[in-house]
Amino acid sequence: MRILTVGGGGREHAAVEALFRSGAEIYSVMKNANPGIVRRAKAYKLVDERQIDDICEFAIEHDIGYAFIGPEAPLEIGLVDALEHIGVQCAAPTKSAARIETSKAFMRWLVSKHNIEGNLIHAHFTNEEDTERYLKMLDREIVVKPVGLTGGKGVKIQGEHLNSHDETMAYVREILSGAGGSEGVIIEEKVEGEEFTQMIFVDGKHIAPMPLVQDHKRAYEGDNGPNTGGMGSYSDANHLLPFISEEVRKKALDILKNIVDAMSEEGCPYRGPMYGQFMLTKTGPKIIEINSRFGDPEAMNVLPILESDFLAIIRDMTAGKLRDDIKFKNLATVCKYVVPSGYGTKPDAGHEVCIDEDSIQKVGAEVFYANVDEIDGKLFTMTSRSVGVVGIGETIEEAEKICEAALKFVVGDSICIRHDIGTEEIIQKKIDRIKKLLS
Ligand code: AMP
Ligand code: GLY
Repeated sequence: MRILTVGGGGREHAAVEALFRSGAEIYSVMKNANPGIVRRAKAYKLVDERQIDDICEFAIEHDIGYAFIGPEAPLEIGLVDALEHIGVQCAAPTKSAARIETSKAFMRWLVSKHNIEGNLIHAHFTNEEDTERYLKMLDREIVVKPVGLTGGKGVKIQGEHLNSHDETMAYVREILSGAGGSEGVIIEEKVEGEEFTQMIFVDGKHIAPMPLVQDHKRAYEGDNGPNTGGMGSYSDANHLLPFISEEVRKKALDILKNIVDAMSEEGCPYRGPMYGQFMLTKTGPKIIEINSRFGDPEAMNVLPILESDFLAIIRDMTAGKLRDDIKFKNLATVCKYVVPSGYGTKPDAGHEVCIDEDSIQKVGAEVFYANVDEIDGKLFTMTSRSVGVVGIGETIEEAEKICEAALKFVVGDSICIRHDIGTEEIIQKKIDRIKKLLS
């Protein structure tokens, strides 16, 4: 079966590998020639992922039946609507359904209207005066977010990034004057706790869960520094997390199922992978954001251990016939991204990076290429995350050691890795923090 894949990052490389295992014939469009995708694709085209006409042309030329779309940017502008119009079945949401991610105002409105648990105190503004009045009225710490997409980097938190009313208002003005689109600003209550990602497959009505994952958004070790698209992530062999119980997970899944039902009721049924970012707080799991796609890096944790046939899941999602017995191996994973130094603020790109794939595989890890450029057989870093290395083992500890052993075979100048991700020390800190918070 011929499938179109859209996107050239680590997440898309992981999806391509899972599709390849399923025996799919892969046709890819992406901005950069991701070497991992290029070698699996029957044909590929280098094109900006928002060039809908070019992508449709490529799909027609290769007689494509199904599509997998990795990033959110093409979903926001209706790639699915356009592909479906030419007869390509998409395991991804339409423009209207993708609003669950592309408009934080829509997401909060939907969750409020349908009385879904896990919502936060929030308000949406399009002018400075109303925002300021609200901020003066609200007697709690807040978080400021642009309504639209920001690649995970537009969120500023009081007490961390915003240290005075003036700083907060300066950021509000920056957002209202255009950053992240001009759809306005969201003010949310700041919540404390531990974050986790619950991803699900959705066919419009039914959902099927993936293993829980914890991402690390901060650029520096110890969860410090600016927010990034995600520096690395881990998952546990029992598909929970060391600080997340089955009961909490069930609450998160109920929230996601209620969102899926609400979207059907609102006339924008959701199909494709859905990503729930939650914060476990003293009063239960709260919704931080919902994304209309796989997480990146989280896809690199779950797809390598997917036992069921990925192509069949994609087909079933598009046909509204998702099975509830999707299986993942009971193995732990630790993913660490190699990024250019300065990623998150001012990336120092354009340096050669050498990757010894054979040695990485020998230590039991997998490598997923991301934002790298191949010139004359050599790889160079670009401004985003370069390559994801995933250790897989019986326990998180073992997976972390495998990941670190594999990282020795990624060598380059001006690169950065958060070595603390998945280590016993940092996980124990999280367990202790949650115990204290919930006691
Ligand atoms: P987002 O892009 O919405 O996932 O936000 C990026 C990061 O900012 C999240 O992963 C959280 O760590 C943090 N964050 C977002 N919203 C809140 C909130 N309401 N309270 C506390 N932290 C938040
Ligand atoms: N890992 C964060 C994201 O994919 O949005």
